[in-house]
Amino acid sequence: MTLVANKNKKPFRVGMVGAGFMAKLHSLSMNNIVGLTNDPDAKFDLIRIVDIHAASAKKEAKRWGWKESGTDWKTVTRDASIDIVDIATPNDSHCEICLDAFANGKHVICEKPLSTDSKTAELMARKAVESGKIHMVNFTYRAWPAIAQTKKIIESGAIGQIRHFEGHFLQDHNNDPTIPLHWRFQKGPAGAGALGDVGAHIIDLARFLVGEFDSVSATMQRFIDERPLVEERTKKGAVEVDDFTSALIKFQNGATGTIKAGWALPGYKNDVFFAVIGEKGSIRFSWERSNELQYFDSSDPSDLSGYRTILLGRVHPGAELFWFPDLGGESGMGVTAQGMGYGEAFALSFNHFVDSLKSGKSASPNFIDGLRCCEIIDAIKISAEKEAWQKVHLAKI
Ligand SMILES: NC(=O)c1ccc[n+]([C@@H]2O[C@H](COP(=O)([O-])OP(=O)(O)OC[C@H]3O[C@@H](n4cnc5c(N)ncnc54)[C@H](O)[C@@H]3O)[C@@H](O)[C@H]2O)c1
Repeated sequence: MTLVANKNKKPFRVGMVGAGFMAKLHSLSMNNIVGLTNDPDAKFDLIRIVDIHAASAKKEAKRWGWKESGTDWKTVTRDASIDIVDIATPNDSHCEICLDAFANGKHVICEKPLSTDSKTAELMARKAVESGKIHMVNFTYRAWPAIAQTKKIIESGAIGQIRHFEGHFLQDHNNDPTIPLHWRFQKGPAGAGALGDVGAHIIDLARFLVGEFDSVSATMQRFIDERPLVEERTKKGAVEVDDFTSALIKFQNGATGTIKAGWALPGYKNDVFFAVIGEKGSIRFSWERSNELQYFDSSDPSDLSGYRTILLGRVHPGAELFWFPDLGGESGMGVTAQGMGYGEAFALSFNHFVDSLKSGKSASPNFIDGLRCCEIIDAIKISAEKEAWQKVHLAKI
């Protein structure tokens, strides 16, 4: 199916729902893509940002140049002067807002996880496909140059058939018991804890790099059972979600894997880590050394055998948008490595969205990828509950 490009409407007129943490990264990205790409057609017009807290929306509007702010998300999804809806609210609100946006003919970029369960995610994916509009889920890390390069190496056949994927996304900030019981610790708005919050990213990377999941065998743990209430810090309420989840994976292509997601593990500041181990070589990456990629080639002479560290520069996919001068040499040796970070990762993710808006080609990752992630999260929860291997149900779509 050919999707409807946004070609004839310039610039991209966008409305955003949710003026929290993500508003900063999204606004920063949308404001800068035109300059980074030097493409006048990649310009965003920030029409309106809304949040249930009027003051947050107003503050972010002033800070990033949104023309208007408000409190009602329908003033974004139903405004004829807006073509694109950007959703960055707690996970349980994504479905209703997305469905209304598609019903009103908008392109949608939605934060991960797509929803709190695979049933609502399936409905969202169906409506997204039926709409003929561009739909993207912001699994930010896919576009990161080291990860895009990993995909390129795998597709080149250099490491051969993949045997094993070892992946985790681990943080330690929620080991602080004084962090209050905000929405991420509640089952209703979040769906899952560390598994849905950071685990969604590593699940997406496992699918992106290795392939579709067949089945999982998981355990889920909670370390801190109660937290102070947000509104009344002297009182405590029950945490309803996991602090740490780990799972064994069987992929459909015969590879095996492990994934871990945790946010209360001392020492892990923001470790998005994977090792992809193939029959002829291996690739390793950690976000804590995000400008490096480690590559092992079994065909290296034995006296030089070992992982090599590749520093990211303009030769790696996506990195050419940033801070690396083109020195004009022809040998390929003149590559510098000034470094990139979290903001650049979001800009790259939004630039993929721009590519789809311009071309009408399906975004990667799109709502079907978002659905698959929710289906895997559901299977992990069932497996942990039953203490047994669980097949991942993949809806036909
Ligand atoms: N891609 C990534 O790497 C990444 C990183 C962090 C968060 N996220 C995702 O982004 C989403 C938002 O996370 P966050 O960290 O910005 O959360 P946050 O709590 O900082 O912000 C959420 C905002 O949404 C507002 N809100 C809640 N319900 C609303 C509604 N119905 N209408 C309008 N506004 C509403 C809240 O008042 C709050 O300001 C989540 O889905 C989260 O999983 C993704």
